[in-house]
Amino acid sequence: MAAKRILLIIGGGIAAYKSIELLRLLRKSGHEVRCVLTRAGEQFVTPMTLAALSENKVHTSLFDLKDEVEMGHIQLSREADLVVVAPATADLMAKMAQGLADDLATTLLLATDKPVLAAPAMNVRMWLHPATQRNVATLRGDGVTVMEPDVGEMACGEFGPGRLPEPEAIHDAIVEALRTATPLPLPALAGQPDFAPSRRRPLYGRRILITAGPTHEPIDPVRYIANRSSGKQGFAIAAAAAEAGADVLLIAGPVSLPTPPGVIRVDVESAREMAEEVADGLPVDAAIMVAAVADWRAADTSAQKIKKDGSGKVPPLALTENPDILAGLAEHPKRPALLVGFAAETNDVLDHAKAKRVRKGCDWIVANDVSADPMGGENNRVHIVSHDGVDSWKRLPKEAVARKLMEKIADELDRRIPPETD
Ligand code: CTP
Repeated sequence: MAAKRILLIIGGGIAAYKSIELLRLLRKSGHEVRCVLTRAGEQFVTPMTLAALSENKVHTSLFDLKDEVEMGHIQLSREADLVVVAPATADLMAKMAQGLADDLATTLLLATDKPVLAAPAMNVRMWLHPATQRNVATLRGDGVTVMEPDVGEMACGEFGPGRLPEPEAIHDAIVEALRTATPLPLPALAGQPDFAPSRRRPLYGRRILITAGPTHEPIDPVRYIANRSSGKQGFAIAAAAAEAGADVLLIAGPVSLPTPPGVIRVDVESAREMAEEVADGLPVDAAIMVAAVADWRAADTSAQKIKKDGSGKVPPLALTENPDILAGLAEHPKRPALLVGFAAETNDVLDHAKAKRVRKGCDWIVANDVSADPMGGENNRVHIVSHDGVDSWKRLPKEAVARKLMEKIADELDRRIPPETD
């Protein structure tokens, strides 16, 4: 089986130590695992052990997620192919069944659109209690796979069902769930467009990274080098990708545009920050680099505001080149299956775009002529330059360009990575 991404939520119970063995088995099978530890879980296993074995940061609190709390947890719950709760304590399952979200684990479980597998572990009386049995039935009805606990002697000395299944058995159940499970069904919202995951949406199940906007390169605490990019085309593309069902990560330079619905957004200032966030966002199926990244930054930035010294002499401004994010991605071991660059040109548009495609190692360049239509306008006339030639579109609103581009990208991704069929 191809490597998958598993979000492992570890609840608080004496059986939590077995989750360490489960994590080891999953890593041995080649899967990437991110661990979330509940506060009670921390009493039984340490974040350090889990971080060392998973080779990933361990998340424990809703409030330690980077950047925006709101976005961080949604991203964690969407990045996974499968969410596994082991051990699933009586308390955790009760919260899941009720839809409570009072900590990171329960918030992730409520926010996820991915299949969920729970491996229960609790005292026999707790397992057999009508409340727990009701919660298990509710969860199963909601599409969660709840394993049967093992029968045997408990840590508390009692005997019966309630022991956490052995790590090998949970591992087998995970393999099966990855093979067969479908995302949790979401009801369509009354009067709203259909947000339920649907295989009809052409980018459903695809992960797309988009850069947008300008970058700001600091000179001193109050001054920076920038360009005129408005970010409108990149944001329209992010919106169209989310509408088409993709998981969208938008890495935005400084712009004052609202985040499109369903898009996970990370704000950056400089080219180097953007390059870092792009690398952190991998792997993705397609990357669309719409940002107008500053080619140069100040070679030295001053920690204090540079002052006039009264002599009339102008301070020197030495520049140094920024990393080329697109070219770097083309050579990255996790290069996306489809890599798309943008090129705003003022002359010899197609020749420059063709040369740029080859120079940067990307699959397509979306080229536009900005000589008569400066950045920031509402419309765009683009040419898609690929290995197969040039596809020129008429002038269209940026939203229409975005939607048409998403259709083309969906077709191309289906050719390059055929979607899994049920
Ligand atoms: N790009 C990038 N990192 C950079 C510069 C550009 O990722 N440091 C990406 C842009 O997001 C865009 C493509 O490369 O997708 C082309 O950007 P452009 O500014 O046109 O390319 P340059 O290499 O700067 O070429 P030139 O300025 O010579 O036209």
